[in-house]
Amino acid sequence: MKAIAIDGPVGVGKSTTARLVAKKLGMAHIDTGAMYRAVALYQIENELDMHDADSLEKSLAQIEIEIKNVSGEQKIFLNKRDVTEKIRTQEVSEGASVVAPNPRVREKLVAAQREMAAAGGVVMDGRDIGSHVLPDAGLKIYLDAPTEVRARRRLLDIEAAGKSASFEQVLAETITRDDRDKNRKHNPLVQAPDALCIDTSIFSCPDETADKIIKIFLDIN
Ligand code: DC
Repeated sequence: MKAIAIDGPVGVGKSTTARLVAKKLGMAHIDTGAMYRAVALYQIENELDMHDADSLEKSLAQIEIEIKNVSGEQKIFLNKRDVTEKIRTQEVSEGASVVAPNPRVREKLVAAQREMAAAGGVVMDGRDIGSHVLPDAGLKIYLDAPTEVRARRRLLDIEAAGKSASFEQVLAETITRDDRDKNRKHNPLVQAPDALCIDTSIFSCPDETADKIIKIFLDIN
């Protein structure tokens, strides 16, 4: 079965939607953002500079990242250690956004992503999946929503995790991360020409977005 590629900006609900689509269609979910987060976590834990290209290149030689589906849930392992929870902090989010533009980091992670997709039957989400990683995906979806809507959703997630932040702070971070994703030199976030754009702000929850994607997928298969 051909892959489903789901791309879009920060806070649009890609990973939750992709997980639901994969679950309902019995496919494997690969959240590629988690891989960039794992690289950032390695730099943080080893007190290495996120911005230093030489340091990142050395780290890449030491890093092994694996994604496994355990009871339908994605687990991510950094050098054999389960870091699924550890990569969800604000510090790692910020770090991932800094390491993601590095071409060596992208080269290594994109190669691993293509290898994982080779077996078929995957729903892969990220920023460059339809445009670069899997140009032959069977279905390409670009999820979008206005910046304020995405910032509001991220704030709710932060609060649900028992933490606090101001809307202005989350909005500013969303704008900065969008800017890094869209304006980087290597594989920036763009809608692939053959991707279908869905504005998720018209849906009240990721389940509705997932159902829409599943309907499109079943119609063309
Ligand atoms: O989706 P996320 O917030 O977990 O992604 C973490 C970072 O990785 C984010 O700054 C964008 C980057 N990323 C990327 O450049 N390419 C991808 N395919 C996935 C994520």
